Amino acid sequence: MSVLDRLTVTDYKPEIDISGFSCGRENIDNVFKNFTSILYRDQKATTNLFYIDDVLVGFCTLLADRLSSLPTTKVFLGGEYPHYYPAVQLYCLGVQKEYQHMGIGGYILDWVISSVYEMRKRIGVCFIVLEALNDSKLIGFYEYKGFERWRYLDQYDHDLVPMVYDFRDLDV
Ligand SMILES: CC(C)(COP(=O)(O)OP(=O)(O)OC[C@H]1O[C@@H](n2cnc3c(N)ncnc32)[C@H](O)[C@@H]1OP(=O)(O)O)[C@@H](O)C(=O)NCCC(=O)NCCS
Repeated sequence: MSVLDRLTVTDYKPEIDISGFSCGRENIDNVFKNFTSILYRDQKATTNLFYIDDVLVGFCTLLADRLSSLPTTKVFLGGEYPHYYPAVQLYCLGVQKEYQHMGIGGYILDWVISSVYEMRKRIGVCFIVLEALNDSKLIGFYEYKGFERWRYLDQYDHDLVPMVYDFRDLDV
C-alpha cells in the first residue's frame, strides 16, 4: 500500500492538537499554529488535516474569495451583473517536513481542485486563488498541478506571487 493510499482527511476542530506539526518554513508553521483555531472560531476558513494513521502529515486551509479587475467592487449588487470572479482561496498549505517529496503536497492540491470542481455543480466559482512564496521550485510545483500566475494583477509584494487555477473552460 503506497503512502498516498493510506492518507485520510478530517476537518480541524479545536480539540485536535496540531502543535507538533512543522513543514520547515517558520512563517507557514506560525500561520498554521496561530491562526487555525482563530479562523475556525470566527468561521472564516476551513482547515483540512491529512493523516497517515495517527500522524498529522499535511494540511490546507480554504476560504471563499473573489477576484476583481475593478478597483472598487460593491459588496451587495442590488441585482446588477457581478463583474467579479467568484473564487476559492487556498489560504495556506503545508506538509510535515519528514513526509515531503512523497507526493502528499500534490495529493492535497488534487484534493482541493477536485473538491472545488464538485462544488461547481452547485455554486458558481471560476478560480482557486493563492499567493505562493516567491520560490522557483514552489512556483513550479503549483504550475505542474495546473496553476498559473494571475496575469491581470501587478505583483504587489515581491515575496508573494498571485496564482490561479482557472476552471472556466472545464466542463461542469
Ligand atoms: C510545498 C509543499 C506543500 C510540497 O509538499 P510535498 O509533499 O513535498 O509535495 P510533492 O511531493 O507532492 O510534490 C513535490 C513534487 O512536485 C513535482 N514538481 C514540482 N515542481 C515541478 C516542476 N516544475 N515540474 C515537474 N514536477 C514538479 C515534483 O515531483 C516534486 O517532487 P520533488 O520535490 O520530490 O522532486 C511542501 O514542500 C511544504 O510544506 N513546504 C513548506 C510550506 C510551503 O512552502 N507551503 C506553500 C506556501 S505558498
